[in-house]
Amino acid sequence: MLEQLKQLEAQALEELDRIDKPRELELWRVRHLGKKSSLTSVLRSLATLPLGERRKIGAQANEIKRALESSLNEKEKSLQEASFTSPLESRWLDITLPGRPLPVGRLHPTTQILQDICRVFKNMGFQTIEGPDVEWDYYNFEALNIPEHHPARDMFATFWIDVGAGAKARLLRTHTSPMQIRLMERERPPIRAIAPGRVYRYEATDATHESVFFNVEGLAVDKNISLGDLKGTLYEFCRCLFGEDRQVRFRCDYFPFVEPGMEVAIGCSVCDGVGCRLCGHSGWIETAGAGMVHPGVLARVGIDPAVYSGFAFGVGVERIAMLRYSVDDIRLFYSNDLRFLRQF
Ligand code: DAH
Repeated sequence: MLEQLKQLEAQALEELDRIDKPRELELWRVRHLGKKSSLTSVLRSLATLPLGERRKIGAQANEIKRALESSLNEKEKSLQEASFTSPLESRWLDITLPGRPLPVGRLHPTTQILQDICRVFKNMGFQTIEGPDVEWDYYNFEALNIPEHHPARDMFATFWIDVGAGAKARLLRTHTSPMQIRLMERERPPIRAIAPGRVYRYEATDATHESVFFNVEGLAVDKNISLGDLKGTLYEFCRCLFGEDRQVRFRCDYFPFVEPGMEVAIGCSVCDGVGCRLCGHSGWIETAGAGMVHPGVLARVGIDPAVYSGFAFGVGVERIAMLRYSVDDIRLFYSNDLRFLRQF
């Protein structure tokens, strides 16, 4: 009987060895380890043997059973591994081939600068708000101390949508300053906000003027806001965008909605202040108008100028982009020349 068991084992192992498909393994198991297998019938017949032999043969039969089971497990594992590796070997794949490039878009330089500007002011505690491009005369002029026939209207060559309706006439906003009024109408101090947006001027274009461009308006209203706060804020803004060494110049200027008003210029980045085409040989590039909010403007929106004061500024976004990237013609930004735009 021992001999018979050895033979069974040898035969089973030999068959197992020849198997190369996982689904054949189950058939093999039924044949050699199942209820009707020769091995099982040997184990069953043990009961009829005398005790001494029963022990010997029983132990042997169990050992063979375990050996066959573990061989089956191993075979199963090795077939599984082979199923992963063989397709790779038979169908060789060259993973060093470069992929097909996907066309990738990019942000317009103005968008990039706008995001930078908004981030800098956000870090100083300014919220960002937006308002309409089509504006009422009231917000664009009237509420900003520029009534009808005021000579300051000449500063803003306007695209009118409908004329002759006074404060109810509509226009394309010539600046983002109307957002000061819209904001102060709905919020009480303390106010700290910026308002980025497109503005429109009915003007001939040249290297430093476009008829459609971007402004970022800034407004802070609170008790004890001073001119020092305004200068500190704009210095910090400039430091964040251009580094420690860039110069900032404040000079008196007139805007009806601020008193005092000033013009803010930044040292030219192309010539470092020596004078070049970009800065018109002055060494400076005007980038913003600013000032202390006029008491009349505060009073009009119901904020008591005896208690509160504020500063405001309006930054020319493309001017900042020109300084940042040393671009000497503003018209390049919107001429849609991909050779230009791909550089950013
Ligand atoms: N809105 C002005 C312009 O476009 C710029 C300006 C000047 C904005 C002074 C301000 C300011 O907020 O206080 O020319």
